[in-house]
Amino acid sequence: MIVSMKPAVVYFSLTGNTEYAAKQIAIKLNADLIRLRLKKEMKKEGFRTYFIGGMSALFNKKPALSNPVLKLDKYKTVIIGAPIWAGRLAAPINTFLAGNKLEGKSVYLFACSAGGSADKGFRLIKKKLSGTEIKGAALFVNPLKNKDETAKIDAFCQAVTKEST
Ligand SMILES: Cc1cc2nc3c(=O)[nH]c(=O)nc-3n(C[C@H](O)[C@H](O)[C@H](O)COP(=O)(O)O)c2cc1C
Repeated sequence: MIVSMKPAVVYFSLTGNTEYAAKQIAIKLNADLIRLRLKKEMKKEGFRTYFIGGMSALFNKKPALSNPVLKLDKYKTVIIGAPIWAGRLAAPINTFLAGNKLEGKSVYLFACSAGGSADKGFRLIKKKLSGTEIKGAALFVNPLKNKDETAKIDAFCQAVTKEST
């Protein structure tokens, strides 16, 4: 049963960029923040991180999360955020999508990259969520450092607000 007009922002972040954007979005939209947590934490940098993270995204892995199933029943709008890993959304999003039903909800996506495109990642998620309409998708480039990205975050929030009213 949908009882909350508040959106939920469900996100994964390794080095803080997606978390920063998620928090900005949550403040602007008065949304609840839900962070996806890996059961086995990853180092934030280094060859191993890029190799394992890149491979996991490339091969559509579902790494174990400590919160794989969320209570999303009450939310009409769910905003999903993730870093781009090897051109895809980071693999923890696969685990989230496998464990949670989003049918009937308004779903939005955002991704953070270091400058690479999110098109392929968004396309793959849209395919996985076939049957659920994705109402919007946005990419922010390392927003923790690039404060210029704030305008894009604002525009994304405005689009969500416009759609939901
Ligand atoms: C495993 C791994 C793979 C990445 N692959 C890409 C990529 O393909 N394209 C890109 O632009 N950035 C890539 N990045 C950089 C991140 O997407 C970018 O820094 C993002 O803002 C990080 O978000 P976070 O701080 O929330 O973890 C990669 C980072 C990691 C750790």
